[in-house]
Amino acid sequence: MSPWKNIRADFPILHQQVHGKPLIYLDNAATAQKPRAVIDALVHFYERDNSNVHRGLHALSMRSTDAYETARARLARFINAAATEIIFTRGTTEGINLLAHSLGAKLRPGDVILTTEMEHHSNLVPWQQVARATGATIRYLPVVGADAEGGLDLTQLDQLLTPAVKIFTCTHISNTLGVINPVEELCRRARAVGAISVIDAAQSIGHGPLDVQAIGADFVVFSGHKMCGPTGIGVLYGRREQLESLDPDETGGGMVANVTYESARWKPAPERFEAGTPNIAGAIALGRACDYLDALDRAEIAKHDQSLTGFAYDQLAKIPGIRLLGPTGARSGMVSFAFSDVHAHDIVTFADEDGLALRGGHHCNQPLMRKLGLTGTTRASFYIYNTEAEIEVLVTSLRRILAFFGAG
Ligand SMILES: Cc1ncc(COP(=O)(O)O)c(C=O)c1O
Repeated sequence: MSPWKNIRADFPILHQQVHGKPLIYLDNAATAQKPRAVIDALVHFYERDNSNVHRGLHALSMRSTDAYETARARLARFINAAATEIIFTRGTTEGINLLAHSLGAKLRPGDVILTTEMEHHSNLVPWQQVARATGATIRYLPVVGADAEGGLDLTQLDQLLTPAVKIFTCTHISNTLGVINPVEELCRRARAVGAISVIDAAQSIGHGPLDVQAIGADFVVFSGHKMCGPTGIGVLYGRREQLESLDPDETGGGMVANVTYESARWKPAPERFEAGTPNIAGAIALGRACDYLDALDRAEIAKHDQSLTGFAYDQLAKIPGIRLLGPTGARSGMVSFAFSDVHAHDIVTFADEDGLALRGGHHCNQPLMRKLGLTGTTRASFYIYNTEAEIEVLVTSLRRILAFFGAG
């Protein structure tokens, strides 16, 4: 039987009305909903096992430590890494900041950070701060096409990816355009000039198989909440050799092997990067999210996303005056669009009356919006529980809104 048929029953939040209409949640690129199994894992931990990790010798502490480390091993399996290469963070933003501070400390004037024009502010501003502090410069791999259909302009790589580049970072999937970047090739090219590669997998982690060995990145970061896990938990994967030479960003309890009044010695990775009490329940529930997504088969999730997105593009393209952004080829599970006469915030506010949860604005991509000549877009982003019928409601709602504004 198709795994998609009964999937909505797993998500309690979907069974509600908004303004008297059934909720249609199309804001999955911002955060995904949580299946009952993940919610239960959180409740189970706090009801039965809650205790701090790595510190106690009593039964509850051993149980919670065991569950926390089992979750680490589960996340490692999820992305084909070793458990010692998994650092639990609060999410993508924290992972990138950790890297920007720790890798950035080694940069010198004249060094270059190469990134792209389509990065989320989380993978842009921390590097800008580091460049400012160290005298390094930032180069941008451009996006091509007025509507960015072409994704990154790889013809510029030879010119931009020189030996001066010490860090290369890019998003796996653009959170505004839905472009899927060729990260394997980009990491291979970065390695060839001796640059360290950092991949932002925030938008890809929940939407298909992800193998860090195949990608060949030195570091990969992602957030649990975009892959059916809780908020406040994420992962920084680092290749073992890289982690061994990396200094911690935060210091304190839990990450030290020995402390005197004068100095401290760090534990090895991953503990070295997890100062203080971690989000234990979040990590355990994120492990449960891995089980949930693997049971659905992540290759099938990718196909489901692509089929819904293809359907959405076809239906939306029939609306007069719509500007559809993003690729015409391989697409992830989202579609971004704009109308010249109606602001994205108006679209989202009016669509809410029809029970639709959309996102409107710059999507933390202000420089890209400026380049595309837009103040913002409306974004509909899909996940495992969305249906073609919901996309039809979206299209009907958009037509109603355009008629109201006398547009389209
Ligand atoms: C591509 C990308 N990078 C980074 C982030 C930041 O993720 P978080 O807010 O979970 O740290 C997001 C969130 O939308 C994103 O889409």
